[in-house]
Amino acid sequence: MVSIKSTREIDLMRKTCDLAKLTLEFLGEHVKAGVSTEKINQLTHDFIVEHNAYPSPLNYRGFPKSVCTSLNQVICHGIPTEKEVLSDGDIINIDVTTYLNKFHGDTNKTFFVGQASDSTIRLVETTYSAMLAGIKCVRPGGRLGDIGAAIQEIVEGAGYSVVREYCGHGIGREFHEDPQVLHYGNRGTGIELKPGMTFTIEPMVNEGSAGCRLLKDDWTVVTRDDSLSAQFEHTILVTPAGYEILTLRDEEDQSLRLG
Ligand code: MF3
Ligand code: CO
Ligand code: CO
Repeated sequence: MVSIKSTREIDLMRKTCDLAKLTLEFLGEHVKAGVSTEKINQLTHDFIVEHNAYPSPLNYRGFPKSVCTSLNQVICHGIPTEKEVLSDGDIINIDVTTYLNKFHGDTNKTFFVGQASDSTIRLVETTYSAMLAGIKCVRPGGRLGDIGAAIQEIVEGAGYSVVREYCGHGIGREFHEDPQVLHYGNRGTGIELKPGMTFTIEPMVNEGSAGCRLLKDDWTVVTRDDSLSAQFEHTILVTPAGYEILTLRDEEDQSLRLG
């Protein structure tokens, strides 16, 4: 069942999403060579708690930390550790989810550590463009498949692959609600979008083939062929006119907020 948020619930979604966005902006100041992913975890935890909220990942289905940190060939759900230290040329996805006033807000970004190679920059920029193309399909009367098709076209057109095993999701009182938002598919298929729906769009894009593998920790998902993987995520509200990006950061083009 896909929940439709009331005006009051939408206001609370705006607040939690604003905190998630602020947290990700704050963490960006700390992404540099020499920093451990455990340090990023501690910074995330303290920042969210200081803002009277709870980091949704912590103890979610047994996840042991307050944020997901996914380095290079890690697709998603990387677990921060003291031993894992950022180096120049790495890419790292930081995925922040906040629980504030009973509502979750979810957003992630792939950061460059120092200078990346041209091919890595192209992967990350394509992933961001694919997420945006998906977002721009959101409007009442549109269908979920429109989003997936737009993302798949951009990713495959650039010679990359869309990860199939993980998808975007409805979000609100629950971290993961209906519907599932696939990052591939066919236009005109899937459920019809309605004002008041809130969901994430969060394509994971592999430089090589789409396959993935779950590590023995039962969380960390890596590319099967050891190629790089990038991801971006926003929480989106379906509005009467189209969409609102609830987690838009200050560094992003502000004209994207409402479509
Ligand atoms: N934030 C992730 C998402 O975008 C989910 C992480 S689940 C966790 O859906 F348990 F690993 F935190
Ligand atoms: Co999500
Ligand atoms: Co997320």
